[in-house]
Amino acid sequence: MTDSNTYNYKVVRQFAVMTIVWGIVGMSVGVLIAAQLAWPALNFDLPWLSFGRLRPLHTNAVIFAFGGCALFSTSYYVVQRTSHVRLCSDRLAAFTFWGWQAVIVAAAITLPLGITSSKEYAELEWPIDILIAVVWVSYAWVFFGTLVKRKIKHIYVANWFYGAFIITVAILHIINSAALPVSLFKSYSAYAGVQDAMIQWWYGHNAVGFFLTAGFLGMMYYFVPKQANRPVYSYRLSIIHFWALIFTYIWAGPHHLHYTALPEWTQSLGMVMSVILLAPSWGGMINGFMTLSGAWHKLRTDPVLRILVVSISFYGMSTFEGPMMAIKTVNALSHYTDWTIGHVHSGALGWVALISLGCMYYLFPRLYGREMYSTKLIEVHFWTSTIGIVLYIVSMWVSGIMQGLMWRAVNDDGTLTYNFIETVQAMHPSYIIRFLGGAMFLAGTVVMAYNLWKTVAGSKPVTAPIPLPAAAH
Ligand code: HEM
Ligand code: HEM
Repeated sequence: MTDSNTYNYKVVRQFAVMTIVWGIVGMSVGVLIAAQLAWPALNFDLPWLSFGRLRPLHTNAVIFAFGGCALFSTSYYVVQRTSHVRLCSDRLAAFTFWGWQAVIVAAAITLPLGITSSKEYAELEWPIDILIAVVWVSYAWVFFGTLVKRKIKHIYVANWFYGAFIITVAILHIINSAALPVSLFKSYSAYAGVQDAMIQWWYGHNAVGFFLTAGFLGMMYYFVPKQANRPVYSYRLSIIHFWALIFTYIWAGPHHLHYTALPEWTQSLGMVMSVILLAPSWGGMINGFMTLSGAWHKLRTDPVLRILVVSISFYGMSTFEGPMMAIKTVNALSHYTDWTIGHVHSGALGWVALISLGCMYYLFPRLYGREMYSTKLIEVHFWTSTIGIVLYIVSMWVSGIMQGLMWRAVNDDGTLTYNFIETVQAMHPSYIIRFLGGAMFLAGTVVMAYNLWKTVAGSKPVTAPIPLPAAAH
């Protein structure tokens, strides 16, 4: 087989391997900072090991390194398989791989050194931001260039989600990162005051909507039907889901800025759009679930399908919780508390991490031409991770709601009932449980890495022939 009549699996494989590597690195840092919150001595009085510097390292590693590699890997696979063509440029695809790894390494060096723009989820300094923009535009070129070359007339819905994710992230990143450099490692935002806050959370919320949601919905629409061996439940619903989600997400950013200097009407608009967002989110969730119609029995024997289905459940849960937290009166209690952290990880661990890992179980055997080494170990992974997530989010609900209620408790004479340190003491047990939950999730991922290693060790990477036009239906 020559390159031109096979798919480019090399870049898919490279990103798939790095998904697992960065997943373990990012989660390990998560477990370390969770331990630091329970036992502060673990900061070791070293600036570059302190919580404040490791926290952005964690968020960047899990979102952009782990989540990012999973998105690159699956989108390159899906766009080729559903278009019946090879990626439009092998060299540009290879550049996106090495460029993205360079961004990650630069982040891993600069963040512990304390080099940061201090914008959440956009902490990296301007030279790295420029590299990100270049890699991202190349990614868009490879993805859309491949779609342009496609041999199948119809553009499958998963590609719509991946495409929206790629375009929107480019716009968000370029606009939010606009800054005036004063040295190689220091820049100041191009925006000031409340505009800066609004641009930052327009970016921040859509990083959730497009980086952590739209691309992963692309995964759901391709890999769930594949693993269940059933067509998408309703193709019409998937199109409505797409347009409604894209239209609504972009307005919801102000819910991160309730009760701030942001104009009142903007906050209310953000709240209303966030509540509306429940509808398209749940439309998507239902479409994902119902794809299993007639295949529910497979859940008994197929742990990979179970991982995918549980991830859709957590998607539903976090997109129910989010709109509730966006209501101003609820946010008055939840904001600044661990409730937000619980919400984040029901989305991040339950949805993003599980669906990514589920897709990796689908991909690895196909990329290396082998059966998975052990189904039992997938079962072990499923249970350790699921129990780990539940421990994590339940402990954060308890801690967060207690924290919020303690802050607002007042005595008859109007003085505060609790001082700050009492709230911290009360949260300590929850922090230990969260640490255990996180450690379990990490342990599950390490079991998966071992299982994948045993699957591929000694095997030769494979590729697949592109079907001839006659068979292209
Ligand atoms: C082993 C698994 C993990 C553990 C133990 C863990 C732990 C933590 C801890 C301790 C924090 C800081 C909380 C605080 O400041 O009070 C945090 C923040 C965060 N983590 Fe994780 N994490 C894990 C996995 C993940 C994954 C897989 C993702 C994303 C895909 C993720 C995304 C985030 C985000 C976005 C924040 C910032 C939340 C905010 O600012 O509200 N985490 N994590
Ligand atoms: C309908 C969908 C959703 C809505 C309306 C929503 C709403 C919210 C609200 C109101 C907050 C708290 C803001 C604050 O008090 O500061 C929040 C925080 C957050 N949510 Fe969601 N959420 C949704 C889905 C998700 C999903 C699926 C994920 C992850 C995959 C996610 C990740 C996050 C993160 C990372 C934060 C923390 C941001 C920060 O302060 O650093 N959300 N969300």
